[in-house]
Amino acid sequence: MQKLAIGITFLVSLAVLGAYGWATEPDGKQLIQSRCTVCHSQARIERGLRSKSPEQWRQTVNRMISHGAELSTPEKQAVLDFLANSDSF
Ligand code: HEC
Repeated sequence: MQKLAIGITFLVSLAVLGAYGWATEPDGKQLIQSRCTVCHSQARIERGLRSKSPEQWRQTVNRMISHGAELSTPEKQAVLDFLANSDSF
């Protein structure tokens, strides 16, 4: 019985940690694939990956938000981190 209680506590902790980690660290790549491909293809973004500087990406993403892209501030940061540090999807 005690083992079961320890087991359940362990599982609940894992679930809470998992949900917390997911909520505080949005996944930039996943966000791009869900929010940025509403208006154009991922290929259009991929073309920029090898040529844009982080500053150029910041300007581009701000322009996309003015076009209507839906990103909260932490989500925008996660997207910018992915764009600045990746050269393909
Ligand atoms: C509401 C529609 C919309 C959404 C959502 C959107 N875009 Fe765009 N995007 C556009 C339009 C319109 C253009 C062409 C005009 C322009 O460049 O501003 C474009 C062009 C681009 C280009 C090519 C032009 C350039 O400057 O290299 C890139 C790269 C790009 N978008 C990236 C993104 C990224 C990254 C996201 C997600 C953060 C995103 N877009 C979300 C509408 C959108």
